[in-house]
Amino acid sequence: MLAGLVLLEALSILLFAILLINRQAHEVHQRARLRLAHQASSMALQASEALRQQRPGWVGLSVTMMAETPGVARAMVTDAAGNVLFASAGEPEEMILDRAERAQIPLKAAKEAKVFDFGGNRMESVDAIYTGADLRGYAWVETDRAWDYEQLNTIERGTVMFGIIWICASTLLVLLMARAISRPLAILHRGTRALMDAPDNGSNFPLPVTVRNEFGDLIEAFNRMVASIKEQRSGLNDTLSLLDSMLANAPIGLAFFDRRCRFVRVNSVFAGMTGVPLSRHLGRTLPELLPEPVAQELEDTVQRVFLAEEPIRDVELSGKGGLLNLPWTWLVSAYPVRTKPDEVRWAGVIVLDTSERKRSEEALRRTEKLAATGRLAASIAHEINNPLEAVTNLLFLLRNFCSLDGPALDYATMAEHEVRRISEITQQTLRFYRQSTLPARASMSELLDSILNLYHVRLNTLGIAMERKYDPNMDLYCFAGEVRQVIANLVGNAIDAMPGGGRLIVRARQSRHWRDEEMAGVRLTIADTGTGMSDEVRARIFEAFFTTKDVTGTGLGLWVSHEIILKHRALVHVRSRAASKGGASGTVFQLFFPDNQDLTGQGRKVAATASA
Ligand SMILES: Nc1ncnc2c1ncn2[C@@H]1O[C@H](COP(=O)(O)OP(=O)(O)O)[C@@H](O)[C@H]1O
Ligand SMILES: [Mg+2]
Repeated sequence: MLAGLVLLEALSILLFAILLINRQAHEVHQRARLRLAHQASSMALQASEALRQQRPGWVGLSVTMMAETPGVARAMVTDAAGNVLFASAGEPEEMILDRAERAQIPLKAAKEAKVFDFGGNRMESVDAIYTGADLRGYAWVETDRAWDYEQLNTIERGTVMFGIIWICASTLLVLLMARAISRPLAILHRGTRALMDAPDNGSNFPLPVTVRNEFGDLIEAFNRMVASIKEQRSGLNDTLSLLDSMLANAPIGLAFFDRRCRFVRVNSVFAGMTGVPLSRHLGRTLPELLPEPVAQELEDTVQRVFLAEEPIRDVELSGKGGLLNLPWTWLVSAYPVRTKPDEVRWAGVIVLDTSERKRSEEALRRTEKLAATGRLAASIAHEINNPLEAVTNLLFLLRNFCSLDGPALDYATMAEHEVRRISEITQQTLRFYRQSTLPARASMSELLDSILNLYHVRLNTLGIAMERKYDPNMDLYCFAGEVRQVIANLVGNAIDAMPGGGRLIVRARQSRHWRDEEMAGVRLTIADTGTGMSDEVRARIFEAFFTTKDVTGTGLGLWVSHEIILKHRALVHVRSRAASKGGASGTVFQLFFPDNQDLTGQGRKVAATASA
């Protein structure tokens, strides 16, 4: 822009100079014409005066004098016929008028001197010499154009000098302006460009502040703005990275839907659940990717979120699929995503694959039954063992009875043989039941966590609030699998007692034996705000097959648990208040597991108390 300014100025100066020079040239020309006319008429006057006074010699003098005048190249006087009488240079006789000069002669009657151009750059003036009315001749004066041009050249030189000085001065001014305005502007321009092209590249900033004026302030303000944008952007990027990593690494399926129930975003876990590549989800609807009726159920959930603009929790969906065509269950929660307070733009869906948990719950239930069956078989075997021993002894005596005849002896031997088989079977059954893993140190918190996580879904679905309080570094020397089963039984019973919701409290802490201060161990409390038990029920809970749950109960859970408690030389204490008694109902099971016990030996009954 500034270069353009300089160019414009140079052009206008050039134009101005041309105009000025032209004007001057014109004026010089005009002046020369006037001067020439004047010189010719004054020479004609002098000549006519000289002729009138009969002094022709003065005419020659006048010619010579005229020729000496600055700006005159040649002067001469001719007679009326054009013959040269006097000339400033050369001999008059040798001189003749040339054609251009001769062409002027018919105009001799003119009152004034006549100026004319002839040949090249030459200009000449002619005036008639009269004495009275007689035309005596002509006075000719030729100008010295070089002298005129000298003047013109001086003007030209002056103009050019002026132009050069003017251009230099304005260029200097422009340079100063450039330093003060255009450089900072150019820096700003480059900075803006760089910011637009590569917003994350901070190498160009801060921009250099080269001047101390309003433009310098502008650059400083720009630098501050860029720094603040950068800070905001970095904060935003951090948040986005956090969210992205959460989305990518959360062990739950996450998906977002727009109002037309099309996928907007999903994470890899969700893609893993649907079995469709991640990239194929975007823009598709649920029925395009998932089998019915799951697609419809999920779509209904999403639509309900958009309609109610409220979250929906714990919807259980199930089906069969995958490589092994195994049954699966999903626990789905959906919630509205608002971009403005009054506008739900997307629906977020969280999917928890609870198939494994379901299977574990099932397995737990089966283990409980199996353990109970084992224990039942063992106690039957145990009970059979004593009479069996008596029968074996009696058969032995019978066989050795002397009055026995042959066939009777055979029968007795056969009976003895069969009885021995029965005995073997019972022995085997007992051995099988007693065989279990060796005791070891187990983390109490892991044990509790694993059980409570297993019941998580049931707790949520029933609206039971859980309160857990235990030291994560606490451990216990025990048969972990069996202790686990006891806890699972107690928690399961507590949940069964709260079908309409309530509170479940699970606590564990290092403690001492209730009666023996020397004995350290772990005290475990499992309490609920459920239906509670009447005294009659509480008195029988450890009995086999005692249940108040009709079809769903086995009545074996606490019976097996009691056995395990005895095996660990642990204590159990039950307090319960039935709903029928009025006031707050609920049950508290307290257990004390002594630590560092010799558990390899046969368990002996320490204590099992039940009190109101
Ligand atoms: N926390 C509890 N609240 C109320 N009743 C309980 C609780 N725990 C156990 N019971 C009672 O003890 C009975 C026996 O429990 P259990 O041996 O586990 O068998 P099941 O659970 O199969 O009924 C239950 O049927 C129930 O009546
Ligand atoms: Mg039970």
